[in-house]
Amino acid sequence: MQPASEPPAARPAPLPAQPDIPAAAWEAAALLPDVPGPTDLQRLRARNPTLATEHWTFVVNQTLLRRRATTKLGPEAARMLLTADGLEQASRPAVAVRRFRDLHRQGWRSVLDLGCGIGVDAAAAAREGLAVVAVEQDGTAAMSAAHNLAALAPHAPARVVRADACEWVALQQDGDAVVYLDPGRRRGHHRDGTTRRVGDPAQWQPPWPWIEAFARDHPATVVKVAPGIDRDLVGRDVAVEWLSVGGNLVEADLWFPAVRNGRPARSAVLLTPTADPWTPGPSRTLHGDGEPAPVAPLGAWLLEPDPAVIRSGLVGDLAVRVGAGSTSDGIAYLTGDGPVPAGWGRVSRILDVLPARTKLLRARLRGLGLRPTEIRTRGLNLDPQRLRGELPGSGAPAALVMTRVAGEPVALLVDDDLAPGA
Ligand SMILES: C[S@@+](CC[C@H](N)C(=O)[O-])C[C@H]1O[C@@H](n2cnc3c(N)ncnc32)[C@H](O)[C@@H]1O
Repeated sequence: MQPASEPPAARPAPLPAQPDIPAAAWEAAALLPDVPGPTDLQRLRARNPTLATEHWTFVVNQTLLRRRATTKLGPEAARMLLTADGLEQASRPAVAVRRFRDLHRQGWRSVLDLGCGIGVDAAAAAREGLAVVAVEQDGTAAMSAAHNLAALAPHAPARVVRADACEWVALQQDGDAVVYLDPGRRRGHHRDGTTRRVGDPAQWQPPWPWIEAFARDHPATVVKVAPGIDRDLVGRDVAVEWLSVGGNLVEADLWFPAVRNGRPARSAVLLTPTADPWTPGPSRTLHGDGEPAPVAPLGAWLLEPDPAVIRSGLVGDLAVRVGAGSTSDGIAYLTGDGPVPAGWGRVSRILDVLPARTKLLRARLRGLGLRPTEIRTRGLNLDPQRLRGELPGSGAPAALVMTRVAGEPVALLVDDDLAPGA
């Protein structure tokens, strides 16, 4: 952070005022179907004709967004202000809670959330006992974050500043706060209102070169990034964690040296989902050096590692840990004969090895009286949908894994879910 003698950059702007909506309008909007037609909306307006059009739009948007958000944010969504972009980009609350709980345990007591969006991370930090200053340049997102902090962490010392976070932070002198950054990685709007992902870190908001320079200067920094990140984006002094929840890869986090707290350079964290999206479930962690998996002969079971293990490049380390090997060089399927490894991904019993060539496979499946209802594939250039259309359409349901064993394409007939993922 730089001395305060720097000329002040953009001054924080006031937050937009929240519209004052009568309770009756919220109650009426609650009766709308999930996809309201023009008649539904007209009927709704007719019941409250004095309410301004923009206020109706606000009530209807919030009502529908809150419903959509329930899966990700739980019942808390009903008390929050949301934007479509903000919801799409918001962290999974349990992952955010886990992150700030760790920082609190390390002894950090305040956080600057630079680019807070609608404030899911900020609310998680506040609930974990950290004093929060959340900075956001977008007026609607900043207004939502302020509302959400007040609704979800009413007694916490937390405030929202509407400003350019890069300019704002340069004027701060408090070096005792941990800095959290979750850069915007989406741009533009499709016709359906969705945005597209920006892969190039130089295009993130704030851009990666700025984040990296900042974190070098202020190593008490945590950065959330897309899980597709290249490990080489940061040096070995920065710990990188890939996180999944219930087998879905959700983010990767960069823990710079002053906050890494003994974390290894590369790890995969598999979180079990819980009924409440704000409560982190039990987790298991894998770390290692990213050596490739040794190849092993086909055993009794096939393990499809959790995507956090695959993305972190730790399939070889998992193989060593569970006493397995890869079915073929560079293929992220592990096989073994030992005890079934639970909690690291989907495990299936291997029932038979069938030929991969469509004609032969069709004949074998017909002979066995089987109809593939599930086809998974890795390491082969084929379209499972298309293949399914070319295989028997009647018979007992069966699952196939199309992959390579010792370099050769095969179809593995498997009995699914011997041990489900985390
Ligand atoms: C990925 S979202 C943050 C989501 C948030 N962590 C959550 O869980 O709700 C990134 C946000 O950063 C904001 N942002 C990007 N660059 C910024 C900057 N220079 N100053 C302030 N906000 C910025 C964007 O407007 C966007 O709302």
